[in-house]
Amino acid sequence: MTRRYLVTGAAGMLGSELLLRAPPGSSVVGSDLRAAPAGSPSVSAIGVDLADPAAVERLFREHGPFDGVIHGAAYTAVDQAESEEALAMRVNATACAVLARACRAARAPLVAVSTDFVFDGEAGTPGGQRPYREDDPPRPTSAYGRTKLAGELLALAEHPLGVRIARTQWLYGPRGKHFPGTIVRLAREKGALRVVHDQLGSPTSTLELAPALWDLVRADAPSGIYHAACEGVCSWHDLAKASIELAGLAHVPCEPCATSEFPRPARRPAYSALDSSKLAALRGRRLKGWRDALRDFFSAGA
Ligand SMILES: NC(=O)c1ccc[n+]([C@@H]2O[C@H](COP(=O)([O-])OP(=O)(O)OC[C@H]3O[C@@H](n4cnc5c(N)ncnc54)[C@H](OP(=O)(O)O)[C@@H]3O)[C@@H](O)[C@H]2O)c1
Repeated sequence: MTRRYLVTGAAGMLGSELLLRAPPGSSVVGSDLRAAPAGSPSVSAIGVDLADPAAVERLFREHGPFDGVIHGAAYTAVDQAESEEALAMRVNATACAVLARACRAARAPLVAVSTDFVFDGEAGTPGGQRPYREDDPPRPTSAYGRTKLAGELLALAEHPLGVRIARTQWLYGPRGKHFPGTIVRLAREKGALRVVHDQLGSPTSTLELAPALWDLVRADAPSGIYHAACEGVCSWHDLAKASIELAGLAHVPCEPCATSEFPRPARRPAYSALDSSKLAALRGRRLKGWRDALRDFFSAGA
C-alpha cells in the first residue's frame, strides 16, 4: 500500500531536500507559507499558514489522510527574532501545536524539527564540555531558542504518544542560504576572511539529515526527543577553512577571531554539539562525520 506523508516548509532548505528524498513508492504532499512556483524543486508545495487551525484542518481533509508528517517549516531568522518574538512564537510554537493536534486527530506520527539553540552552551563545564544529550535541561539564551523550545513542549503536550522532536544544528544544503555557501562567496569577493573560532558545534548537511528524518517518521519509535546531527565537533572557523579548501580557494587567508568582535542581536551557545546516539541506535547507523558530509556536499556540485 502506498504510504502518504506531509512535509511542511517544503520550499525551505531542509523541506526541499525532504521532498527530493522521499522514500520510493510513497506519496508526499509539500506545504509552505506560499505555494511553490511551477518548476521549483518543491513544485507540489501547497500554500498553508500552519498557525491557522482552520487552514491546517482543510489541509488534512483535502490532502490527507497522512501516515506521517515531517514539520520543517519555521521562523528561522535568528537575529530578527530578537525584535519579532511574538511573530516567531506564532510560527515556531503555535503552528507546531496546531499541527500536533491535527496529527493526533489523524493518528499520524509527527516529526517536528528543532534546534541546538534550546541549550545555553554550557554543557558539562567546568568539568569539560561534552555533547548535549536529549535529557539535558534546555535553557535557551535567545528569542528563537525560546520559541523553538515552546514548540517542542506544546507538540509533546498535544500529541503525547506520537511526537518525535528532532533537534539538529548548523544546517546547510543544496538549496537555501547557509554558512558554507556564504563563506565561499565572501572568499571570492573579499579575498580574505576572519571567522569566529570560539563557537563549537556540528555542521549538519540536509543530505544526511533528510534520510534520517524519513527513517524517524517511518519507524515505530517512541515519542520524545531525538538529537540528529552529523558526527564530530568543530568551530565556525574550522568549517570556513574546510569549505574554502573544498571550493578550491585554499589560498584565501582565513583568520580566527572572537565572537565578541562580531556582536549580533541573538546570543548563540558557545558549545552546542549534540549527542545523536539515541537516533543512531534506532537507525542502526550514525549520520556521517561533518568533514565527510561537507565533502559530499561540495562533490555534488552544491
Ligand atoms: N538552518 C539551520 O541552521 C537550522 C539549525 C537547527 C535547526 N533548524 C530547524 O530546521 C528546520 C528547517 O530549517 P530551514 O533552515 O530549512 O528553514 P527555512 O529554509 O527557513 O524554511 C522554513 C520554511 O518555513 C516557512 N514558513 C514560515 N512560516 C510559516 C508558516 N506560518 N506556515 C507555513 N510555513 C511557514 C518559510 O516560509 P517563508 O520563507 O516564506 O517565511 C520557509 O519556506 C526548522 O525547524 C529550523 O528551526 C535549522
